[in-house]
Amino acid sequence: MTDESPAWSPLPAPRMKVLVTGAAGGLGRALVAALVEVGADVVGVDRPGEQAELTADLADPEAARKAVADAVAQLRGLDAVVGAAGVVDTIHRAGTFPLEAFHRDVAVNLVAQFAVAQAAFPALRDSRRSSIVFVSSTAAQDGLPGQSAYAAAKAGVLGLVRTLAAEWSGDGIRVNAVVPGLIATPKVLGMPASVRDRMLAEVPMGRVASPAEVVGTVLYLLSPAAGYTTGQALRLDGGAGLARTGLHR
Ligand SMILES: NC(=O)c1ccc[n+]([C@@H]2O[C@H](COP(=O)([O-])OP(=O)(O)OC[C@H]3O[C@@H](n4cnc5c(N)ncnc54)[C@H](O)[C@@H]3O)[C@@H](O)[C@H]2O)c1
Repeated sequence: MTDESPAWSPLPAPRMKVLVTGAAGGLGRALVAALVEVGADVVGVDRPGEQAELTADLADPEAARKAVADAVAQLRGLDAVVGAAGVVDTIHRAGTFPLEAFHRDVAVNLVAQFAVAQAAFPALRDSRRSSIVFVSSTAAQDGLPGQSAYAAAKAGVLGLVRTLAAEWSGDGIRVNAVVPGLIATPKVLGMPASVRDRMLAEVPMGRVASPAEVVGTVLYLLSPAAGYTTGQALRLDGGAGLARTGLHR
């Protein structure tokens, strides 16, 4: 990685080469825009039919490998991966969750994250100071009724983070996760207000996160300021879970 930032910089180094998955999504778009703004070279990937530089169904391991190879070729190397691709709206009560749908959710939300990281590993190792940030969810730690597959997959991502961080530290690769609660992306803004209000009742800050607040944390984790941080899951949740008594209201 071309590192022109001081060691404490909260911004990624200029011209850092970054692959962003889920680049056409609410959060993905904001991530790509912010990375470009701070001077990174970015390739975004999203599923076929979506607006992204590269398209691939990342749940198909062969397609994931090809997408990463194409990104590395285009960028002429790789310093960072941000895994924001995900399926966020498969909703069934657990008693009747179709197994096929469960498998598909896990394939996109967990296996694809691993497939992308594995395919990126040689290029990240060559960079020597590289980093992966996976986007998990508070569903991983708190559970999310109606979304057992999503919660299980996002919890799997946290196990993956700790394991890859341990395995790949010697190769100069840091691996972390952001763990957001509700983010004000088009998907969330399109939720029925009654559902959103019920979820926000458990959030002392009483509001959802802005995409910029999540993006800022991802940029920090990619930056030299987080150079000694690996294997961590950083919650961005407006204090959710800190006020279960309801006395904050
Ligand atoms: N919005 C929230 O409140 C929230 C909260 C916590 C975590 N997250 C996580 O943040 C990330 C982005 O969420 P978002 O709100 O922007 O949702 P989104 O649906 O707008 O974005 C997800 C993107 O992933 C892409 N994608 C899905 N399946 C894919 C596949 N098989 N191959 C390639 N790309 C695929 C979609 O096309 C989409 O562009 C997700 O991982 C989500 O789980 C979101």
